[in-house]
Amino acid sequence: MSNIKDLIKEMTIEEKASQLTQLSAVYIYAQTNADITGQMENIEATKEQLRHLGSVLNFNGAKEARSIREKYFREGGKISPILMQDVIHGYRTIFPIPLAMGGTFDTDLLEACAEMSAREAKASGVDVTFSPMVDLVRDARWGRVMESTGEDPYLNGEMAKAFIRGYHKGGICACVKHFAGYGAAEAGREYNTTDISQRSLNEFYLKGYKEALKESPELFMSSFNLLNGVPVNGRTDLLVDLLRNEWGFDGVLISDYAAVVEMIKHGYAENKKECACISLNNQIDIEMMSDTYINHLPEAVREGRVDIALVDKLVERVLTLKQKCGLLDDPYGPGSEESEKEIHLCKEFRDLVRVAAEKSMVLLKNDGDILPLKKEQSVALIGPFAEEKSLIGPWACFGRYEETVSISEGIRALLGKDIPCERACSFDLLSTDTSEIDDAVKKVSDSEIVIACIGEHSAYSGESASRADLRITPPQLELLRALKRADKKVVAVIFGGRPQVLTDIVDFVDAIIYAWHPGTEGGAAIANVLYGNHNPSGKLTMSFPRSSGQCPIYYNCFNTGRPKPIDDVIPRSCYNTSYLDCKNSPLYPFGYGLSYTRFEFSDVSLSKSRMQRDESIVASIKVKNVGKCFGEEVVQLYIRDPFASVVRPLKELKGYKKIALAPNEETTVSFEITEEMLKFYNISNQFVSEAGRFIVMIGGDSQNVASAEFDLVD
Ligand code: NOJ
Repeated sequence: MSNIKDLIKEMTIEEKASQLTQLSAVYIYAQTNADITGQMENIEATKEQLRHLGSVLNFNGAKEARSIREKYFREGGKISPILMQDVIHGYRTIFPIPLAMGGTFDTDLLEACAEMSAREAKASGVDVTFSPMVDLVRDARWGRVMESTGEDPYLNGEMAKAFIRGYHKGGICACVKHFAGYGAAEAGREYNTTDISQRSLNEFYLKGYKEALKESPELFMSSFNLLNGVPVNGRTDLLVDLLRNEWGFDGVLISDYAAVVEMIKHGYAENKKECACISLNNQIDIEMMSDTYINHLPEAVREGRVDIALVDKLVERVLTLKQKCGLLDDPYGPGSEESEKEIHLCKEFRDLVRVAAEKSMVLLKNDGDILPLKKEQSVALIGPFAEEKSLIGPWACFGRYEETVSISEGIRALLGKDIPCERACSFDLLSTDTSEIDDAVKKVSDSEIVIACIGEHSAYSGESASRADLRITPPQLELLRALKRADKKVVAVIFGGRPQVLTDIVDFVDAIIYAWHPGTEGGAAIANVLYGNHNPSGKLTMSFPRSSGQCPIYYNCFNTGRPKPIDDVIPRSCYNTSYLDCKNSPLYPFGYGLSYTRFEFSDVSLSKSRMQRDESIVASIKVKNVGKCFGEEVVQLYIRDPFASVVRPLKELKGYKKIALAPNEETTVSFEITEEMLKFYNISNQFVSEAGRFIVMIGGDSQNVASAEFDLVD
């Protein structure tokens, strides 16, 4: 094995600059079939510079990986480049989007899915995935909420760790992104400014990334955004003082796509040399998709603006990552067409993603227990998603529509017969065409139950896919109205990469299953849920607003000095915190999700009513399945500190347990409460607990809870 220090000694300063640069595969291998995941900026790179590129992103499969490396070495490259890819929720076999996976509250399941996607990716030559995304999200207008696990910092941390464990088991490296605060884009508009107080950063936004570090991710990605007036790549306090020095991260820090050079457009750095100096001094080890390092690092070192010892340190980190990926021993890296054939889309993986999809779906409404459907009922499918194969969602890597199970295929396979199927209208965001609706409704009018397959297409969430209006599009709404006029029993299956505003449609349908973007086996999973082969247990990890105007909306908010006593809509202001035309509460709260059975929660009991700091308290609740079928429930623990030197949120998730109960079965669920769970950042930003009263709340969602109180005593 080559010695890293020796390799660095042999490098020229120009070669070092190339090692610290990442470009799309297209720069080395023009024939690549990979997607381009950003704007192609003007990259000025000579053959000599490209010859020593340290890493490459966006390539397609094992054969290309091999060709890229062969070409690289042919052109005189010496140390194999690391191949990186956005493997976000599966490589070829696609599992539900992360926002849906968060709602399973099942870290083992997520870990298994991440391991699967790592195995597939590795078979295709991937060394590093740009995942998990750990950005806290509160505003559903932002398209990238689909990549997050939601609005709760604790849950995000748990899910991030599960992702990383899975990637490591599957043999690839993980990159925690986007550090930091990218999820708070103002007005939910992609790439927009963020302004987050230090308090809010500490309490909410940074916690997930910090927790993720416990599973030793190899990389962190710094984010695009302007944070409190300075682009993140210019924030020494965040990137060096906090991430490196306080949190001890010594892995590779990579910039986001062209974010280094974008400091010019932000109005922070005057030219490319300035960008390079700032980023190098902030220890950004890899500059992704811009050319400031390759063209200005040597000069910056010669001018004394960047220390060569620092450059060597960054190169050492990149080479250490290469070593970890095995590239210093085997320069051609992992993956082969044979292993791709063997494992891509294998039955084991399809089975796994089907279970994941079933467990991620959320039953939002079920009037008169219309669900589960009975096989003998006559059903028809209607709506733009009835036969859609695009259910894999955005950021679906090399998942293919033609390999995805549509709802119609899933239901036909389950029933073993054909059923009527009408598209009725388009899912196009801007479509206003309702001309086919009446005819389509007529064609399904003989069916006892109509399954309306509606929502948001995968093209309308993900990066660069913000929306200002989160309502279901007018033609799809008109379709539901027409079904109501025809007096049909309607089950809505709704797709989406974000919470959508369902206020207008909720009264037109008898049941709602929120299917998110469920992945390769989506249609089969939906069929299993509709027909009760799987009892839904998915929960929402983002609040569903009643109106787009409520965004940002999140459960762990503050009471304010003028809380609204009853959340009805009021005709005129009565000097409470409220809207004139909308309730304050979400339509569906964080943690919400129904089941085909019903769970009854007892009162909360506490092991004692006073707790010393070095002690703990056990909070317990009895949960009974009082319905007719087996089901799973996520029992959620929330705590509130009602009076503190810095005001605390109304409630904060501190624990959860997923339980499974047969009809009439009862169990006691207990949580140990420790002092650590009561701590917060005081006004001097110290993480402390304060003596006094605490309210413990336990329930099946964030609104429906039973509570008890105890005192923390000095
Ligand atoms: C930009 C995105 O913000 C980031 O998440 C992704 O990993 C890179 N592009 C690479 O595709």
